[in-house]
Amino acid sequence: VAKLGILASGDGSNFEAVAQAIQTRQLNAKIEVLIYNNPDAYVAKRAENSNIPAVLLNHRDYTQREDLDTAIAKTLQQYNVEIVVMAGWMRIVTQVLIDAFPDKIINIHPSLLPSFKGSRAIEQALASGVKITGCTVHLVSLEVDSGKILMQSAVPILPEDTLKTLHSRIQAEEHKILPAAIAIYRLH
Ligand code: GAR
Repeated sequence: VAKLGILASGDGSNFEAVAQAIQTRQLNAKIEVLIYNNPDAYVAKRAENSNIPAVLLNHRDYTQREDLDTAIAKTLQQYNVEIVVMAGWMRIVTQVLIDAFPDKIINIHPSLLPSFKGSRAIEQALASGVKITGCTVHLVSLEVDSGKILMQSAVPILPEDTLKTLHSRIQAEEHKILPAAIAIYRLH
């Protein structure tokens, strides 16, 4: 059973998808802890409902990115986490966290990388005129959204798409490939 630590900043639909995959035995793992950085993030509620320990590490309490990452690494180690999953984690990661979990940090990103890196991937795909976008599960490296790709899924962009409709179709794919990629990666 792989011990997972999940980092999330917002709604947590991907957190829920991983929790569901574990419950339905598609994924042989356990979420040991959720770490979230926004006091109002709905993901905390989801963790509470699933009886998963949730730790708030508010980035506003740390002056340097490295200090936040040190606190994150400590918390993950306290919970004996083996694989770290960034499920909508909206902070830039430093060497501190990468060194604490080398090749053990997985991220979900809402584009077909290497296209549309960064925090506005869906807006950029819409604005660019491409007809296909999607989502990517990848290993986290120091350069943002650039680590080894583990899994991708394509999503067509429809003429009537808005940010909202496109994001929700991308998320539906994220909810499939994030648990699937963890299941495959944990065997390594
Ligand atoms: C997801 O669509 C994820 O791809 C994106 O945030 C959303 C979180 O949704 N991540 C990034 O943009 C990372 N730069 P969720 O909170 O419902 O899982």
